[in-house]
Amino acid sequence: MQSHPSDAVPRVPSDEELARMSTEDLVRLGNRLDDIEIVSERDRFPVPGTRAEKRAERQVAGWFILATLSGIAFLVAFIAWPWEYVAPFEEGAFWYTLYTPVIGFTFGFAVFALGMGVIAYSKKLLPEDLTIQQRHDGRSPEVDRRTAAARLVQTGQRSGLTRRKMVVRSVGAAGGVLGVGVLVAAFGGFIKNPWKEGPNSPLLVTDWHSEDGERVYLRRNTGVAEDVVLVRPGDLEPGSMETVYPFKESMRTHPEELAHVLKSPDSPVMLIRLRPNVTVIKREGQQDFNYGTLFAYSKICTHMGCPTSLYEDQTNRILCPCHQSQFLANEYAKPIFGPAARPLPQLPIAVDDQGYLYARSDFIEPVGPAFWERNS
Ligand code: FES
Repeated sequence: MQSHPSDAVPRVPSDEELARMSTEDLVRLGNRLDDIEIVSERDRFPVPGTRAEKRAERQVAGWFILATLSGIAFLVAFIAWPWEYVAPFEEGAFWYTLYTPVIGFTFGFAVFALGMGVIAYSKKLLPEDLTIQQRHDGRSPEVDRRTAAARLVQTGQRSGLTRRKMVVRSVGAAGGVLGVGVLVAAFGGFIKNPWKEGPNSPLLVTDWHSEDGERVYLRRNTGVAEDVVLVRPGDLEPGSMETVYPFKESMRTHPEELAHVLKSPDSPVMLIRLRPNVTVIKREGQQDFNYGTLFAYSKICTHMGCPTSLYEDQTNRILCPCHQSQFLANEYAKPIFGPAARPLPQLPIAVDDQGYLYARSDFIEPVGPAFWERNS
């Protein structure tokens, strides 16, 4: 019967013998120990520096250069492209809509080109060996690990990477740019200081805030930004809810501001009129925030910021459809079910001498989900 390579168990050298062995000796030993049979072995370019080799190098480096350029384009777009929301009818909307496709394409193409460069390198420049290896179980002993490392070293030497400066530089540039890209994508959001404006920082104020004391009214959204319809207490039936938005007289001649508050994420407020016989429990310090049976709560869920749009007047429950948090409208919108842990912030409201509802101030706590620095 013909013997198989795996039938012969080679002698394992001592540690001293291993230390004296050359890279080639270790590779040969490793092949025998790992039951690797080399069927054929061929350097792709036995004579270094031929035109064919240079052409192959340029093709490989070309992919890495494309990866580098695409990575740089991604970085520039990520930092400088107009990313802030622009409504479809506003100036600059076209460029805003391209933001996500541009950063997605440039980053995706950079990764694709880097992968193509690695494939091209292994196909065009690495030695063309055909080997067969038997499978082994369990953890490798020291001798196997040493010989495997030697094989990697030898492959690196035979690949000619040390003399292919163009490939080394282009793959270094591509890897570096992509690495920086990943860091920028991961930590770019931390560069901007959200607390720069102190008590007026964006996370602490909403569009219900009035810097100059101008009164902020509650308005409906009729679907047309310029169509301003203010709200009176009698507009809501007992047991009903309406979403309202902030409005100041100074906005009337500024269509872009009228449109802005309708899409601003911290603007929407649920104005709820409880039934007259409902028992109400108020929160400490917010006893006068309501107007009769009218209560105004931020619509932004304190769990993860979804709009809590569903109001069930029989049970006085406000439901967030995202993860089913429930809040009691007659008990300062405290959470009674689901993952939300804080009440919906309440807007203090009153009625002016014309009978229109207005906000007496901004919310007294930040709206929406928790963040590190909030203390309530
Ligand atoms: S966002 Fe409302 S329950 Fe999760």
